Amino acid sequence: MKRDVIIACDFKSAGDTFRFLDLFRDEERKPFLKVGMELFYAEGPGIVRAIKAQGHKVFLDLKLHDIPNTVKKAMAVLSRLDVDMCNVHAAGTIEMMKAAREGLTRADGTRPLLIAVTQLTSTSEERMRDELLIGASINDTIVHYARNARTAGLDGVVCSPLEAGMVHEACGADFLTVTPGVRFADGEAADQVRITTPTRAREIGSDFIVVGRPITAAADPVAAYRRCLREFVG
Ligand code: C5P
Repeated sequence: MKRDVIIACDFKSAGDTFRFLDLFRDEERKPFLKVGMELFYAEGPGIVRAIKAQGHKVFLDLKLHDIPNTVKKAMAVLSRLDVDMCNVHAAGTIEMMKAAREGLTRADGTRPLLIAVTQLTSTSEERMRDELLIGASINDTIVHYARNARTAGLDGVVCSPLEAGMVHEACGADFLTVTPGVRFADGEAADQVRITTPTRAREIGSDFIVVGRPITAAADPVAAYRRCLREFVG
């Protein structure tokens, strides 16, 4: 799988999204985009069709987590939307992840990439222990959940770039690591904690970096995107 930069389109409306995408109209490379809950819930499936119609790949980041039958049926709908990547919570169990994969697979055997969220980067080891009663370390939990995702036949996981190396070690070089928490060396961390630079993410072995504010809030978003590509893809 070729490394790529995914821009997190964390906008509240289609208007804001297309004003942003208009900046990229002359770019030869159409950026891979992530659509999350805010934009999807505000605009509905039409926003995915409209972005795809402009030639972008779409990672639909809805993090499904429900009983297997419900997830399977929801995934069949997302598959018809023709997204390129979507995701579930690994905490939903191997059975739920298998159901997601089945639902996503089209009659001709093709399907979008399917990845699992291991532990959200906002969840600390302390909260895991005290609120969720998970006694294992955060790293052991992430590797265990990644192995479960691989067992279920998923393509990879969402994790911090700092965890990409250990996930590849446990699950193989072909198992994808999709990693938010990326900042330029001279940039603001904002609310992200476990962060690293695009260059370091490449060295550790991330396959896709998900970058939001360092691009969307930059004075020159196109220049920031190109810088990410230069540092991460080379
Ligand atoms: O603006 P920033 O680069 O921090 O955006 C990162 C994106 O990745 C956001 O859309 C955020 O919701 C998402 N994300 C994350 N950490 C996770 C999972 C998703 O930052 N563990």
